[in-house]
Amino acid sequence: MPTLLLSKNDIKGLLSMPAVIEAVEQAIREHAAGHARMPHKVYLDTESGDFRAMPALLLGAAGVKWVCAYPGNPAKGLPNVMATLIYSDPGTGYPLAIMDAMDITAYRTGATAAIASKYLARRDSATLGLIGAGQQAYTQLMAHAELFRLKKIKVFDILPAAAERLARAFPQHQVEFCSLQEAAQADIVCTLTTARKPFLKRQWILAGTHINAVGADAPGKQELEPEILKEATVVVDDIKQAVAGGEVNVPITQGVFKVEQIHATLGEIITGQKPGRKDRNSITVFDSTGLAIEDIAVARIVYEKAIAAGGYQSINFMDESASGAPAKNLGSIP
Ligand SMILES: NC(=O)c1ccc[n+]([C@@H]2O[C@H](COP(=O)([O-])OP(=O)(O)OC[C@H]3O[C@@H](n4cnc5c(N)ncnc54)[C@H](O)[C@@H]3O)[C@@H](O)[C@H]2O)c1
Repeated sequence: MPTLLLSKNDIKGLLSMPAVIEAVEQAIREHAAGHARMPHKVYLDTESGDFRAMPALLLGAAGVKWVCAYPGNPAKGLPNVMATLIYSDPGTGYPLAIMDAMDITAYRTGATAAIASKYLARRDSATLGLIGAGQQAYTQLMAHAELFRLKKIKVFDILPAAAERLARAFPQHQVEFCSLQEAAQADIVCTLTTARKPFLKRQWILAGTHINAVGADAPGKQELEPEILKEATVVVDDIKQAVAGGEVNVPITQGVFKVEQIHATLGEIITGQKPGRKDRNSITVFDSTGLAIEDIAVARIVYEKAIAAGGYQSINFMDESASGAPAKNLGSIP
């Protein structure tokens, strides 16, 4: 039985944001209903960054993503976040596919934040603030544009060229490069940086704002002044992961925010177990660390689409005659 090998280019052609949003929301519901398994991600620190191993089991799908965060990489011409995913048959353990997961990561991160905005932001939100215009910013914009009627997108990055590149990529939207404070004054604000010190100030945040805090996804990372968290309705993707490495990790370690102040998980909000926003004026924060169930949910639709379409490269892992000569064994699924 062949194992599909899906490159970054293949994945690009197989992903669509509306399908990813649907798959991710479905996976969060499956998880909240107890139909998924997801051990917490394992971090492996190196001199230049870190690796994370992220396994999950969903209905009919299992896999693990091996992903890195190397903040110095863009200066070397390499992406900060790079990822590979092994997608397996949960019935037999057979490796069905090995796929690039850089775009899977970016799409599911954008989709999850937009889903959080759908449940927590004001429904008439029309301005989106993006702080950090790297890889993740593109899919945040794409996903929010699917769910909201965006009139203006305000972008800030310490590298103006990054913000300009983002604006050029979306000529159909009104994307403006602006100051940090201006980007912070939007209906929905997404923080998407590699910062380790808070830069988003409480005094800038307008009543009714929803913030997706995405950048802090490992111990010691932080983007928001803790005063924001203390006043806001704080929702996390996963409590243990958020406490270990999400936006709340540093404030909790410093004793200025308590685990008990976390209002809910996104799954509890989506399934109606807990209420979302209190009123039009409250500030809401979604603390995103990234869940393996989101990756496997997207891998599931990618795999099914690739199998249905056919013509993708594959390898026969279990064929002993192929050992030592993998190149000869490359074939394609008709
Ligand atoms: N929560 C999740 O699920 C999730 C998923 C993927 C990535 N991430 C995290 O999101 C962050 C961004 O990832 P990426 O792939 O877009 O990285 P990237 O390196 O492509 O982009 C980061 C951008 O932030 C800018 N930046 C850095 N510090 C800044 C600051 N103080 N103010 C404004 N801009 C600043 C950089 O110039 C760069 O353009 C990383 O920390 C990454 O680990 C989180």
